[in-house]
Amino acid sequence: MIHSTARRTVPAAADPIPVSLQSDLLARDRAHVLHPLHDVRAYDAGRVWVRGEGARLVDADGRECIDGLAGLWNVVLGHGRRDLADAAAEQMRTLAFASGYAGNTTRPAIELAERLSSLVYPSINRFFFTSGGAEANETAFKIARSYWKLRGRPGKTKIIARRLAYHGTTLAAMSATGLDAYWPLFEPRVPGFVHVPPPDPYRGSAGPGRSVGLDAADELEAAIRREGAETVAMFIAEPVMGVGGVLVPPDDYFPRVREICHQHEVLLAADEVITGFGRTGRWFALEHWGVEPDLVQFAKAVTSGYFPFGGVGVSDAVADVLDRAEGPWMHALTYSGHPVGCAVALQTIAVLAGENLVAEAARKGEYLLEGLKQRLASHPHVGDIRGRGLMCAIELVEDRDRKRPFPAADQIGARVHAAALERGLLTRVRGDIVPLAPPFVTPDALLDRIGDILADAVRAILG
Ligand SMILES: Cc1ncc(COP(=O)(O)O)c(C=O)c1O
Repeated sequence: MIHSTARRTVPAAADPIPVSLQSDLLARDRAHVLHPLHDVRAYDAGRVWVRGEGARLVDADGRECIDGLAGLWNVVLGHGRRDLADAAAEQMRTLAFASGYAGNTTRPAIELAERLSSLVYPSINRFFFTSGGAEANETAFKIARSYWKLRGRPGKTKIIARRLAYHGTTLAAMSATGLDAYWPLFEPRVPGFVHVPPPDPYRGSAGPGRSVGLDAADELEAAIRREGAETVAMFIAEPVMGVGGVLVPPDDYFPRVREICHQHEVLLAADEVITGFGRTGRWFALEHWGVEPDLVQFAKAVTSGYFPFGGVGVSDAVADVLDRAEGPWMHALTYSGHPVGCAVALQTIAVLAGENLVAEAARKGEYLLEGLKQRLASHPHVGDIRGRGLMCAIELVEDRDRKRPFPAADQIGARVHAAALERGLLTRVRGDIVPLAPPFVTPDALLDRIGDILADAVRAILG
């Protein structure tokens, strides 16, 4: 335990300088909280967020900031909503928790699954609920393996994922994650995970008569053949890669992936933890390409971040096989179908639908992207400005013609991030890629402000 000035109501006379509430809280945080992506060097420059309103956050020293990534891509309805808080409180008062294990259920779980059946891809009508994205992916891996075992194909266990993918950091999800920085301290990884390249419309190039999308789909097919289709259970992909750098696939990629998965009897699992519930301007992102997955994992926006929640939707064909098992399916989570999470999800979906916010995400996304292009496209170190719906990114490069990145040691992305935060815009960076995914309720004037601040931050670091 540390002894800090904040515990005294009156500062001691001996205190040399007044300690800000924020720095005092940060000292206590450093003493007792271990954070995701723990790094003591990040603690001192940390911010303590105390309040939120719409797309704005306020820190413990009263400084305001635009929430440029809607929390962690999840707070789609913005901060400080009473309707979501009321839905949670009402459900907590009525029934805070009851077992969801087979043979038990609750009204909110039933109503949410029904509502999702009408929203998610037409062939997906059954849902398993989790507390977040990694659990949803873990569940998807186990659904895929059990599906093939129940179909008498026990050798089909491998999962093919993509480089640069982010699927969470629990051990199997980490093994599917294709960003190798997440691996070294925690290896060995779970065996049976294979990675293939994603299509990269910015850096990728295709031969004559070919396309970046079809080449990447070919890589998947080659991996299935190399591993042996009789050993592959599932292919997992984010429809638009988020953490990896907001990579929007070419239009021909997912339709061809769907064909390949079908042909080789490999389940297609869409990790829609970021893209689900409107982020790309459609309720679910494979709708952009008229493709239906066999499994869909979701989390984040389903409760707008107001309650830790997620899930997996399974196609009727997969559900039928699970139903035919002779014994129980031994996968379980205490908080599966948590009634409060279900109630908050129902209210979130009601607002998204009632206020037409998925269409708004599409419109605002175009507005934001256009604004970024106007302000930054001519900058010699802005290599790419890309996005789909209210999910976009800029990529900074040393040499625009050769698309050559800056040396990692220059820390350009981190410095632009710090400069943006200083000017009142919070986001995250991966290398020199700066993603933006503000709440769907962000007013256009604030989207302009995001563009102004980012352009200013880029100029402050890169001239
Ligand atoms: C696409 C995707 N999948 C899975 C996850 C993991 O979700 P969680 O952090 O809730 O475990 C994330 C988190 O950012 C994600 O972006």
